[in-house]
Amino acid sequence: MAKYILALDQGTTSSRAILFDRKGRIVAQAQKEFAQLFPKPGWVEHDPLEIWSTQAGVAAEATVKAGQNGKSIAALGITNQRETVVVWNRKTGKPIYNAIVWQDRRTAPYCDQLRAEGREPMIRAKTGLVLDAYFSASKVKWILDNVRGARKKAEAGLLAFGTIDSWLIWNFTQGELHVTDVTNASRTMLLNIHTLRWDEELLALFDIPSSMLPQVRQSSEVYGETKTTVFASKIPITGIAGDQQAALFGQLCTTPGMVKNTYGTGCFMLMQTGTEPKESRNNLLTTVAWQLDGQVQYALEGSIFMAGAVVQWLRDNLGIIKTAADVEQLARQVGSTEGVYFVPAFAGLGAPHWNPYARGTLFGMSRATTAAHIARAAVEAIAFQVMDVLRAMEADSGLPIAELRVDGGASANNLLMQFQADVLNTKVVRPRITETTALGAAYLAGLAVGYWGSVAELQALGQSDTAFTPKANQAAIAEGIGHWHRAVQAVQVWAQP
Ligand code: G3P
Repeated sequence: MAKYILALDQGTTSSRAILFDRKGRIVAQAQKEFAQLFPKPGWVEHDPLEIWSTQAGVAAEATVKAGQNGKSIAALGITNQRETVVVWNRKTGKPIYNAIVWQDRRTAPYCDQLRAEGREPMIRAKTGLVLDAYFSASKVKWILDNVRGARKKAEAGLLAFGTIDSWLIWNFTQGELHVTDVTNASRTMLLNIHTLRWDEELLALFDIPSSMLPQVRQSSEVYGETKTTVFASKIPITGIAGDQQAALFGQLCTTPGMVKNTYGTGCFMLMQTGTEPKESRNNLLTTVAWQLDGQVQYALEGSIFMAGAVVQWLRDNLGIIKTAADVEQLARQVGSTEGVYFVPAFAGLGAPHWNPYARGTLFGMSRATTAAHIARAAVEAIAFQVMDVLRAMEADSGLPIAELRVDGGASANNLLMQFQADVLNTKVVRPRITETTALGAAYLAGLAVGYWGSVAELQALGQSDTAFTPKANQAAIAEGIGHWHRAVQAVQVWAQP
């Protein structure tokens, strides 16, 4: 009897596999990091073959660790780093270039050129995205323009393009399936998010032949099954979603107004906004949340560049903590920052400010300021930034936010979570299983094969969560928020191209 769902989480720095049981509990997991390639400043690449081999390897490892084999797996769900592109030869299955990673900035000048040509409003209206090198389209174009013979081969229908989900599924099925799901497709800048079809005008603009593109499918359905290269038996592949959307589903943010925030190196916040896309007036992205049983749900998304990375900076650059987890203890040594504010704009400011020239700044220090005050100001800065994005989401969606669901490494920091609840004046809920990305992929895969019957059944699994409710004096918090905003403003006044 098939007892488990296997979720594969192909992230930016590691490939992971988690086996879940019917109660949504982790049975076994495996993880492997792979090489980050930086061929030139601003360029970030991965070896697609290493992505495949590490992902297939951890899938087998997690299964073996649980003392199981392919026969005990009811279905496979795939979730992945989004926007990253692979272009490969359909006949040989070999990539023609390394994967160009979402963080890669090489196509920024091209995006500037498109902006100067006045293309942004059309792109934004169709895709819900800001015109930026972050997304896939300009990266695919770069490969076609720069790899010898690529464009000719693409025009002859010999090349395939895919985000990482497509690439993995192509390999799991030995070239039988060339598919993606609506969430991944919505990050390519080639999908019209209203019609959920590849858009001819965008394909023409980026000069990408439509023959290269995968078929766009729902996030939960039977796409096909694995060939017996990794597992001795065939396993149905039945769930696909980009990692942030998978986390939104894993957190069961299934009704409009529900929000999740992942505290990783940066933060990715997504709000479920229902069956109609909401246009953002505050520089957030409009994106597809998932498509299930034929029905598409949309989300608003905002990202913060520096969250856990601020703590890493305290550890690696200032040396005031030994491990990232130590920041909580250090920050707790003082009752407040005593007027110190830290705007960690090391890489500019993301949503909702979008100022690439802003830089990290500490405000309000006195002779009495210690490492503990700075650590506390860093923790508070993470929460303040999250607050700014959440307020922008409220304004864009017109939806009241009853609670913020959290996950990711820094969500383990209780001081941060309590302060987050205080500055939002909203409940913050941390699930027992913070592996919500993989869990979301497992849920999507399990629903497609009847392993779980409905979203209501998932809700009834009753994860025992930890809730943080606002406790601090709201007048004092409001004063702090005022100082934070003055600091953010000052940083922008100082910023220069
Ligand atoms: O948009 C990029 C995002 O999907 C990457 O997520 O968790 O791999 O850093 P992660």
